[in-house]
Amino acid sequence: MLPNKKAIDLIKIYMEKEYSLENFSSLIDELIKKDLLVKTDDETFTIRSEDPDELMHSKVGALVESISKFVIPSNLKEIKSPNILDLCSGIGYNAVSALHKNIDSNVDMVEFSKEMLFLSLALYIPIKEHELIKESILNFFKGKTGGKIRIFNEDARVTLKRTSLKTYDVVFHDAFSPLKDPVLYTVDFLKLIYNIMNDSGVLISYSSSIPFRSALVESGFIISEGPSIGRKRGATIAYKNPDKKQISTLVRIPDSDERLIALSTVGIPYSDKNLDLTSEKIIENREIKREELKNKLGDKYYTTKKIKLGKIDEKLLKIQEYGNNSSEIIKKMKSAYF
Ligand SMILES: C[S@@+](CC[C@H](N)C(=O)[O-])C[C@H]1O[C@@H](n2cnc3c(N)ncnc32)[C@H](O)[C@@H]1O
Repeated sequence: MLPNKKAIDLIKIYMEKEYSLENFSSLIDELIKKDLLVKTDDETFTIRSEDPDELMHSKVGALVESISKFVIPSNLKEIKSPNILDLCSGIGYNAVSALHKNIDSNVDMVEFSKEMLFLSLALYIPIKEHELIKESILNFFKGKTGGKIRIFNEDARVTLKRTSLKTYDVVFHDAFSPLKDPVLYTVDFLKLIYNIMNDSGVLISYSSSIPFRSALVESGFIISEGPSIGRKRGATIAYKNPDKKQISTLVRIPDSDERLIALSTVGIPYSDKNLDLTSEKIIENREIKREELKNKLGDKYYTTKKIKLGKIDEKLLKIQEYGNNSSEIIKKMKSAYF
């Protein structure tokens, strides 16, 4: 899924004009007037997506969200010259906030839409490190690449196959919601991310979707409940191979979610073996697998309602009694059930 088509078309017109402060400010005015650019509660702006009801950031604040949900839980302040993979970098809030917390960060920004990169040049973000991001975006538009901030303007699935990638300490996974656009939430895509992360690396996503968390567990990640700023459910923090300190900070995801991932057909992750399927095909394939699993389970099949309420075999419930590692618990429940 992409940002709103009307917004993209308007930005395209301005991309052909001179890059001047006057033109930038008239673009912003037009976007606001047309209700395509929306002020969030912290006074920073976000854009509507293709689905006009979905904003690119939470209403609580584009900047607040990037700092509280992505940057603080990543602990990147404590990492020496962290390598950051900023997937779906959009307007660049996450990259700006990361540099603000740790100026020695090396950031690889991956964004499908040239227009979102351009919008970052025109928009005011009240953090001085935005100038560094803007400089890199300007260089990108002049055809210059490289340096501490690199820009990959393409489908993240293409980027993940590149050999020029680094080993990352932090991955920001900030795609649109998986219900509509699961291409970056598949088990195959997440396994590629896992492989290019440092052992102590951490992936952060605002999404708490069951198939997404299930795919993370299947890819080898240890998942933990993240902060729930501006949304009902918590974000997801996923460690590659958590050290003692990281293990001590693990927070279990809700009990019912652990059960859904382990035992229900909702827990079947999205897949995209060759990283080339459309969203529609990925969703359709998963529905087929869900039906197949339901048929295979026969009498053993539990409805989602029963799983949520914990009306299942006591032996399975017992597995959930102890520990702070949801990934381990999910795996144990799976092997006891299947
Ligand atoms: C929720 S927004 C991210 C906001 C962003 N992190 C920021 O700080 O402004 C999702 C972004 O993902 C981009 N996107 C969607 N599908 C993509 C894909 N397959 N590869 C790379 N970028 C993608 C969209 O263009 C959009 O800018």
